[in-house]
Amino acid sequence: MEIKAILGDITKQADVEAIVNAANESLLGGGGVDGAIHRAAGPDLVKECRTLGGCRTGDAKITSSYDLPCKYVIHTVGPIYYGGKSGEEEKLSSCYRRSLEVALEKGIRSVAFSSISTGVYGYPLDKASKTGVDTVFDFVSKHPSSFDLIEWVCFDGLTLKYYEEQINDHGRSALRGL
Ligand code: APR
Repeated sequence: MEIKAILGDITKQADVEAIVNAANESLLGGGGVDGAIHRAAGPDLVKECRTLGGCRTGDAKITSSYDLPCKYVIHTVGPIYYGGKSGEEEKLSSCYRRSLEVALEKGIRSVAFSSISTGVYGYPLDKASKTGVDTVFDFVSKHPSSFDLIEWVCFDGLTLKYYEEQINDHGRSALRGL
């Protein structure tokens, strides 16, 4: 299995079954990647989201993808960063864990994450990328052979650099046999 980070627009990702949206608790859309995903998916996405009754911070819920090239959208709600002493790390880690649990339940084997909470929600990139990558590596080590590809689709070069560094810190050899 492969874990990697690439530069790109997550709404165009056709190499994965599911993309992970950085949503808000209403699940009714917003700006940033949330807005981009809803625009690309079309109006049926928010119609399905309305049936879900929102999503708590740290949790994740799944919908169809409509006009997007992937098959599913997993909506997760990251924490707003208030300085790091309000449980932000655990909530962010929970976003990644719950997103992969939801994927596993659906038999999804390829997932693309956006950089959860590092835009509007102000989570520092160095901390968020470490928490995200550590959580993903921990999850796949506990669920070997459950995924073929997990990637981060980064919208800019700085974000890409942080996720690449974190993934390299885990060492590629760690992936063999997972
Ligand atoms: N593809 C990939 N990544 C993207 C895209 C895109 N098309 N558009 C934006 N991003 C990146 C941002 O550059 C940032 O690195 O997604 C990352 C997350 O930023 P935000 O979208 O601002 O998400 P977040 O910080 O989690 O804030 C969520 O913003 O849009 C609202 O409704 C959303 O209230 C919620 C809040």
